[in-house]
Amino acid sequence: MTQVTMKNIVNLAQNRWFVYAWSEIYGWLANSWDYGPYGSLLKENVKFLWMKEFIQKRPDVMLIDCALIMNPKVWEASGHVWGFSDPLMDCKSCKARWRADKIIDNHILDTWANEPEWYAGDKTPWEVLEKYIQDEKIKCPDCKETNFTEIRRFNLMLKTHLWVTDDSSSAAYLRPETAQGQFVDFPNVLRSSRRKLPFGIAQAGKSFRNEITPGNFIFRTREFEQMEIEFFVTPWEDDEYFQVWKDNSQRYFTDIIWLKKENVRFVPIKKDELPHYSKEAWDFEYQYPFGWWEIETLANRTDYDLKAHMTHSKQDMSYFDPINNKKFIPYVIEPAMGLWRIVLAALCDAYTVDEENNRTYLKFAPKVAPIKVWVLPVVKKIGHLAKEVFAQLSEDFICEYDEVASIGKRYARMDEIWTPFCVTVDTENYENWKVTIRFRDSMQQELVDIKDLNNFVRERLK
Ligand code: GAP
Repeated sequence: MTQVTMKNIVNLAQNRWFVYAWSEIYGWLANSWDYGPYGSLLKENVKFLWMKEFIQKRPDVMLIDCALIMNPKVWEASGHVWGFSDPLMDCKSCKARWRADKIIDNHILDTWANEPEWYAGDKTPWEVLEKYIQDEKIKCPDCKETNFTEIRRFNLMLKTHLWVTDDSSSAAYLRPETAQGQFVDFPNVLRSSRRKLPFGIAQAGKSFRNEITPGNFIFRTREFEQMEIEFFVTPWEDDEYFQVWKDNSQRYFTDIIWLKKENVRFVPIKKDELPHYSKEAWDFEYQYPFGWWEIETLANRTDYDLKAHMTHSKQDMSYFDPINNKKFIPYVIEPAMGLWRIVLAALCDAYTVDEENNRTYLKFAPKVAPIKVWVLPVVKKIGHLAKEVFAQLSEDFICEYDEVASIGKRYARMDEIWTPFCVTVDTENYENWKVTIRFRDSMQQELVDIKDLNNFVRERLK
């Protein structure tokens, strides 16, 4: 079996309308990406399936949508202004900038060295990281010199200025996570929805981080989308709900998005690597061509955030439990997923090489596939009939209409992005109000009444 590489994925994604280099006509801005017609649909499908699974199908999770630029005091209270930083080192020889822990990760991978017992990634005391890099004479991954600066704190928040001045009093930040919106709005949602614990507040949208080393295509970028749920529970039920959300995540990735089971795993984060706000956390990882990397972090954030906002805002963020007649700050279980990382995982998982026919295609799950039905007239001159069928189907599904080139070539185009159904319109069958539907997987064909067509496709997409 051919091993898929990032080069394969990037080429295919760019050639087949999934992801483009951003501002390409001006020479691109490194590590920024635009989603093309199929990429946008793929991304929306992944997001829609998250919404369906965790919001539509559950009575206890509500969706909100918060501002990208929040009051800067939010980020002081949450600890981001002070603590959301990475250990930055510059190579004095070639001027490349690195995260100290990533230089060590690289070194361990390249030399097969044993990971030191004390090593806890970017949570390791920075003087210890610095000493290890010096003692081991670790080289700059770019120029191979050992000539680094000392570690400096590099805040990942992307700063901007509001109002008319750009002095420090007008500083604001683009949100580095969606989650704080759910915490800040907790009293509003509680008051307006009159929910009882446990319940969740969900949000999907853009987040921004000034990453030192973005890379691996859409995996680590400075602008990306997250899908996060803050699930509020009583403090004595946190462990139970942590397990529930672990199972939910597992199901979402393997049964809904259909990532291959052998390519996903859940790994606990070591106690000394936990972020300051969390009691327990697990990373849900996918096996990308460049190794196992996180697509979701599931964390028990305790009552840290609500308490922090209560202290800073002086507003009451507590919950009154009418059953036990008690007031307390709820605990929070947080499944935090990266949408773009799931899209990349779906692309890698779908990448299929058909050696016999010398072609590659993307074998998506039908629910994830960007286009559900491809509509084509047998010959261009009956395009007006096929367009009527297209109009009927596109009431319910994202379809593509295609009348260019031979039928064989059009089938091949449709197979490339693994469109589940193809509907062919020809005059003879159309006179009897029928069309031919071709199934991508079996390549079987069937005649279907036009009036039943939408139900026919809907049933088979389930
Ligand atoms: N609210 C918790 C939080 O933001 P996180 O582990 O920092 O936790 C959650 O982020 C998810 O967001 C990650 O698992 C990852 O999938 C995605 N993510 C984080 N930084 C990213 C980046 N620079 N580029 C793309 N996705 C990113």
